[in-house]
Amino acid sequence: MTVQDHTDAVRLDNVTRVYGDGSAAVHALRGVTLAMQQGTFTALMGPSGSGKSTLLHCAAGLDTPTSGRVLLGATDLSTLSERKLTELRRERAGFVFQAFNLLPSLDVLGNVTLPLRLARKRPDRRWLHEVIDRVGLTSDPVRKFLVE
Ligand SMILES: Nc1ncnc2c1ncn2[C@@H]1O[C@H](COP(=O)(O)OP(=O)(O)OP(=O)(O)O)[C@@H](O)[C@H]1O
Ligand SMILES: [Mg+2]
Repeated sequence: MTVQDHTDAVRLDNVTRVYGDGSAAVHALRGVTLAMQQGTFTALMGPSGSGKSTLLHCAAGLDTPTSGRVLLGATDLSTLSERKLTELRRERAGFVFQAFNLLPSLDVLGNVTLPLRLARKRPDRRWLHEVIDRVGLTSDPVRKFLVE
């Protein structure tokens, strides 16, 4: 399989992920090679325990493969320090967790804009309004805040 293309958004080359060791080792990923191109939409399906979350965690730099390589655009994640990985997750990866992992002490806007706050960036109001609207999160208090 050829997976070399400059338009690849994400690429996995022979990625394995083993949890535990010895007789207790779980081979969650056994050599996954795939490429996802920019502007495409991929659904990953399989039974519970088949490794979907493990693959997504490795692809987004949340987990490190036991072997193999993950590239986000041209960036090889295995070459990044923990700090650079954190920045990459903040700037370049979006992730909706199975259990959402929202912060209950923050409201809708607080949760949506948290990565920007951590990066000390001001949200673009119009864009914020649009994304919140598009995913159906707009409530009257949110709308009021956005137009002010
Ligand atoms: N932190 C961990 N430590 C040990 N084993 C793990 C760990 N995380 C996942 N596993 C094991 O790796 C395998 C793949 O799990 P994974 O969570 O990736 O599956 P999944 O396809 O996302 O399942 P689900 O549909 O239930 O979310 C399973 O056998 C699981 O028990
Ligand atoms: Mg899962």
